[in-house]
Parts: sequence; structure tokens; C-alpha cells
Amino acid sequence: MRRPLVIGNWKMHGTRKSNLDLIAQIQVGLNSNQNCDVAVCVPFVAIPEASTAVANSSLGLGSQNIANAEQGAYTGEVSASMLAEYQCKYALVGHSERRQIYLENDELVASRYDFAIKGGLIPVLCIGETDDEREQGKTFDVVEKQLSAVIEHYGVESLSKAVLAYEPVWAIGTGKTATPEQAQEVHAFIRQLIAKQNAAIAENLIILYGGSVKPDNAKELFGQADIDGGLIGGASLQADSFLAIVNAA
Ligand code: PGA
Repeated sequence: MRRPLVIGNWKMHGTRKSNLDLIAQIQVGLNSNQNCDVAVCVPFVAIPEASTAVANSSLGLGSQNIANAEQGAYTGEVSASMLAEYQCKYALVGHSERRQIYLENDELVASRYDFAIKGGLIPVLCIGETDDEREQGKTFDVVEKQLSAVIEHYGVESLSKAVLAYEPVWAIGTGKTATPEQAQEVHAFIRQLIAKQNAAIAENLIILYGGSVKPDNAKELFGQADIDGGLIGGASLQADSFLAIVNAA
């Protein structure tokens, strides 16, 4: 049985005060017996204070990226061991904004994924097609290629230490959500692809959906057989909408 997971991706938002307020508000609303894991991926500079704020609570912490090296001359990067010192549990890798704006390619993303695992963090590998790619009927090819980059380098077994997030790029921050059927179709495809190599890993793998998840569409999306929770951008910046999505999971 896969335990649902909901992760907030705060992107480049917030102030020291608003970040701590948001964490406190989320914590108040989380049930001690909730049947779902919950985490927030905050900006790097917010991690130290967030780490103290979430200590001894059921709210997990994550980063929005992670270095593809352990230490050294990598200006601007933050390594797994640095993040682990602040009890980060998750690290997003390959978010479409990293791929599109900062030109991170499959190979770099795969290396970040590997360093997350080696450093004891859970990489949340984001994959998904653009609008054009969907229109050209390339959705399955694109997600297969993005996933293969990781499997070819680090083996299908590495997925037992990872989480996947299917995020169609055309649905991120646009208000256009994939329909539950469209999302389920791709999630099922991803799981079957992995099952061809290792059925147990495919069965246990958490695959999140991301892209304009809101309180009013979360329940239907999370009700799909292969959707195990969500990666939430805009709606994670308000405690009430984030908590409503957590409750839907
Ligand atoms: P969104 O972002 O929920 O604002 O569409 C999702 C994401 O980028 O992870």
C-alpha cells in the first residue's frame, strides 16, 4: 500500500516572517493521525529556520534543487550533506523551471538525483512534457526519455529510494490542470514502464501529480489508481488551500 504524499514547492516566494508564519499555520492544521506524508520545499535561505520550525513535527522539509557533487568549486550550489545537516528529507530534481530557464539537461538532472540518494535524501524527480510535445503526440516519449536518463545511469533499483512527480509543463502555474484521466494515463504508463524492469519497485513507487492542483480538483486527481499525491506550487503558499489539498490526499 503506497502512503500518499503531498509536497509544497514554494519556489522563490516569501520572507523570513511569512515563511515561518506559513509553517506554523500548516502545522496547526495537520492532524497527528493524518494518513499522508506532508513536506514543504522552501528556498535555500529559508532552510535553517524552517528546519528548527519543523523539528519534532510531522511536517517534512525539502530543498528545491541539490548539487551534482559532494563539495568543491561549484559556485551557487548546495550539497546533499549541507542539506542533511538541516534535516532536509527531500530534494526536488529536474523541475521544469530548472530544465527550461536554467537549461538543466537529463544528464545533469540524473547526476543531481544520484547525489541526493548518496547523501541520504529522497530525490523528487520531476518529469513532464510541454504543450507542443503533447500536441505532437510525444508525451510518452518525453517522459520515457527523462526517466531513462536516470534508470540507465543508476539502475531501476535506485527508484526504491526516490519519488517521481509527473508535471505536464503546460499545467504548471497556468491554471490548466490535466484532467484526472489525462494524468492517470501518464502515471499508469510510467508505472508500467518501470514494472517491465522491476514489478515490486513499480508497485511501491510514489508518483505525484503536479500542475495547478487546487483544493477543488485535488480529490479527483488523487482518486486515480496511480496518482499517489501531489507536488503543489501556487496553492501551497496559503495554509488553507494547502491543507485542503492534504486532506484530499
Ligand atoms: P503549480 O506548480 O501548482 O503552481 O502549477 C506546480 C509545480 O511547479 O511544482
